[in-house]
Amino acid sequence: MKLLVVGGGGREHAIIKKLRENPQVTEIFACPGNGGIAKDAACVSIGATDIPALVDFAVEKAVDFCVVAPDDPLALGCVDAMEEKGIPCFGPNKNAAVIEGSKVFSKDLMKKYGIPTAKYEVFSDPKAALDYIREQNEFPTVIKADGLALGKGVIIAESMEQAADAVKSIMEDKMFGDSGNRVVVEEFLTGPEVSVLSFTDGKTIVPMVSSMDHKRALDGDKGLNTGGMGTVAPNPYYTDEVAAQCMETIFLPTVRAMNAEGRTFKGCLYFGLMLTEKGPRVIEYNCRFGDPETQVVLPLLKTDLLTIMRAVHDGTLEGVPVEFSDGAAACVVIASGGYPKSYPKGLEIDLGKAEEMTDVTVYHAGTALKDGKLVTSGGRVLGVTAVGDDLTSALEKAYAAVREITFDGAFYRKDIGARALKALGK
Ligand code: AMP
Ligand code: GLY
Repeated sequence: MKLLVVGGGGREHAIIKKLRENPQVTEIFACPGNGGIAKDAACVSIGATDIPALVDFAVEKAVDFCVVAPDDPLALGCVDAMEEKGIPCFGPNKNAAVIEGSKVFSKDLMKKYGIPTAKYEVFSDPKAALDYIREQNEFPTVIKADGLALGKGVIIAESMEQAADAVKSIMEDKMFGDSGNRVVVEEFLTGPEVSVLSFTDGKTIVPMVSSMDHKRALDGDKGLNTGGMGTVAPNPYYTDEVAAQCMETIFLPTVRAMNAEGRTFKGCLYFGLMLTEKGPRVIEYNCRFGDPETQVVLPLLKTDLLTIMRAVHDGTLEGVPVEFSDGAAACVVIASGGYPKSYPKGLEIDLGKAEEMTDVTVYHAGTALKDGKLVTSGGRVLGVTAVGDDLTSALEKAYAAVREITFDGAFYRKDIGARALKALGK
């Protein structure tokens, strides 16, 4: 089988490595891929949002199956365009991808179908938003741009002054463009956060092993928000009891709600959850695998990924037993100096012995090949993952590999998994 994977980050590298385990797979193309993915797939320099070029390429190469991994092409209808040409895909169509693409849509969906989430109001007029915030007078309060905003569209305002700044930046200065035409103002919730990725074909939903992201740039959850500086799986806060509650109050109701709206979701549905004192609440939905959650979830997957993905497409997921190993995984992201603000590119990377270490996989996120040498090309450069019998051993192995790797200005968090270990009483 010939496969095409759309995307070029650490998540896509993890997907590609897993897909390669299937002996039926003869060739994988990655559009655009990256310097590390080039070892595992044929990288083709077509951007992930250039839908016409992607479809032409897939048709020309007679690709048997396509995986669309990032949010932008999904929101733009990449799956619809591929399937129109007879190329089966893993990923939601445009109609269903709106669950991530519009926060107003997802909040209204949850309200309509009684799915637990933070209380909220929607505004298209900045003055009305501010009047409401002033009237509520509850801080912190959460202000979210409606549309996609590279993971940066959520502002937690501690005061009226900060709220006014946030509303101005999003709605008047349009810092996220048209994504800020409307805002959601919502109640601030507290509790441990859990990421649950799931496979669904619109009938059956199979949650994957849970994980915990570390979004802030610096140790102790300090610094700016990033795309994610590291992950661990499983998430110790996500007990069997919580999982059962989520299945009944969140996962199944969401799948049914999307069907009822005529927006059947097929692909990976990501639940960003907060475990509050009053029970689990949905913080956000994503219409795709998380990054860097995928880098700890897929290494624990025992079932063949391509088999699952094809079953999701065919609507036969119910018949596929999806199994995860009992162990743990940890991923530590190594970032470019300056990230998530500006950072240099093109710096040479020395991986040391990291890639040869037992139970370690180095996923490439922002790397490129220049004159045959591996160099940095993004903010998040590498995701160093290790698996182990338990979290302590996974973390030890991951950090041992991280210490092998060097490039100018490289930095990483030293406390990935610390909170999870504490929750485990270690
Ligand atoms: P998002 O971009 O939707 O993933 O949100 C970014 C982060 O903002 C989340 O991971 C949470 O930590 C935080 N957040 C979002 N909504 C809320 C909320 N209602 N209450 C507290 N924190 C929130
Ligand atoms: N790590 C969070 C996300 O992928 O949205």
